[in-house]
Amino acid sequence: MKKLPTLALFASCTGFALMACSSGSTSSVAVAADDAGSVTLTDAGSGASTTTSWYAQGKPFVDRYCRSCHGGEGPGTGDFTSYENVSALAQSMLAAVTTKRMPPGASDPACRDYMNSDRRFVSDADRASFAQWIAEGTPKGSPAGEQEVPLIDETIANPDLVIKAAAPYAPTFSNPSEPGNEYRCFALRPGLTSDKYITELGPILDKRSMVHHIVAYRIDPAHLPVAAQSYPENGWSCIDMVNAGVNPGSNPLTGDGMLVAWAPGTGAFKFPQGTGLLLKSTDVVVLQIHYFESNKQPAGTADQTAFAMKLEDSVTSKLLIAPVGKTGFTIPAGDANYSFKGSFGPLPVALKIYGTMPHMHVLGKSYELKVDNGDGTGACVAKSDRYEFANQVTYLFKEPVVVQPGAKVDFTCTWDNSAANPKQLHTPPADVPYGERTDQEMCYAFTILGIGN
Ligand code: HEC
Repeated sequence: MKKLPTLALFASCTGFALMACSSGSTSSVAVAADDAGSVTLTDAGSGASTTTSWYAQGKPFVDRYCRSCHGGEGPGTGDFTSYENVSALAQSMLAAVTTKRMPPGASDPACRDYMNSDRRFVSDADRASFAQWIAEGTPKGSPAGEQEVPLIDETIANPDLVIKAAAPYAPTFSNPSEPGNEYRCFALRPGLTSDKYITELGPILDKRSMVHHIVAYRIDPAHLPVAAQSYPENGWSCIDMVNAGVNPGSNPLTGDGMLVAWAPGTGAFKFPQGTGLLLKSTDVVVLQIHYFESNKQPAGTADQTAFAMKLEDSVTSKLLIAPVGKTGFTIPAGDANYSFKGSFGPLPVALKIYGTMPHMHVLGKSYELKVDNGDGTGACVAKSDRYEFANQVTYLFKEPVVVQPGAKVDFTCTWDNSAANPKQLHTPPADVPYGERTDQEMCYAFTILGIGN
């Protein structure tokens, strides 16, 4: 199988002209990228003087859009924190941005805005000024007047609970079907004496360059897979949700479920005031960590990444994670654009949607989560035409979506099961049914809900 984190999306690429936006300059730069991703820049203006600098255009751009993954210790290739590196890599960085391979695909904030969305899509003005800086030969300039772009806040101040494996674990990357990748689960007992509500949670990353993403689940210990029942210090292999111990279709009111999915660029989860996710005193927390082989760490490096939480005894609105979607589909072999819709509802009560984590497997290419009021009106909740299995995150909305009784919430998944899809696992393509294994497909938006409006 292909190394999973290889982003092989071929966005359609057209040349476009960018007006330089720095004051006092009237030059314009034409940027054209071909499908192979190589970029040509032509300075069409006077071109005499330099108007840009690393401190004013280069560094703020990479800090805003790239640093959460390419900041030396992140999972992205290369270290974009130094001027020398960025200057040397500038052409390929601009190609990745112009062809929209980078930053990786995410839900479209024009559908609904969410936390840190401004870091996931490069604005036209910022791309133009970055291109201009490259066209001028990446001048370093002077640090005077540098605009600091803060790091995305991942920290939970004074956590009440830290969930951490008993010992550091060194991934072996030895599964031949997953070269360079390892999915490892750790079952951890929070040791609570009474039921609590999680109001904030966030990762404490140990070896950042190895951790591609983390999913936290809460699970009834009776449902743990056999391999986990002795709570092995070194965890167990668990590429799928079912191997982690979760039945994705279980009743969200009572059943096991996901808490959140975190990946670089997501930040800490801070739920709105008065809301929280239930953590029963009997629950086990499973951390499913996707490790990724990186040349930034010597082979055999061990990691002990943890999750921190703030807990409350009670909340005014209990949050639930509802799997919106459906089983029972088969994606025909060779179909490059097969869609399937699952619905939640019609709802007997009003709901608020606080966030969602869209989930398909490697053939997933686009999705849409929307409210259908049944009278021709509705609302977009999450939508992307660049779904990437390697970049699954939970989107926490800036404002909750209010859904009235009688409405439905629909989730539509679209897959590319053609031979031309670089992520295709079958040669030749085969019919792909619903299933929790990676070579099968799923179609769920794990949606954070509160009951009532
Ligand atoms: C959410 C994480 C993330 C963010 C944000 C991100 N990258 Fe990446 N990037 C990756 C990962 C992971 C890889 C390595 C594997 C791959 O190609 O998918 C990568 C690979 C690359 C590569 C080499 C492969 C290619 O497609 O050319 C370039 C160049 C790149 N990124 C540029 C950028 C730039 C420029 C930004 C900011 C505008 C950025 N990335 C933002 C995760 C990210």
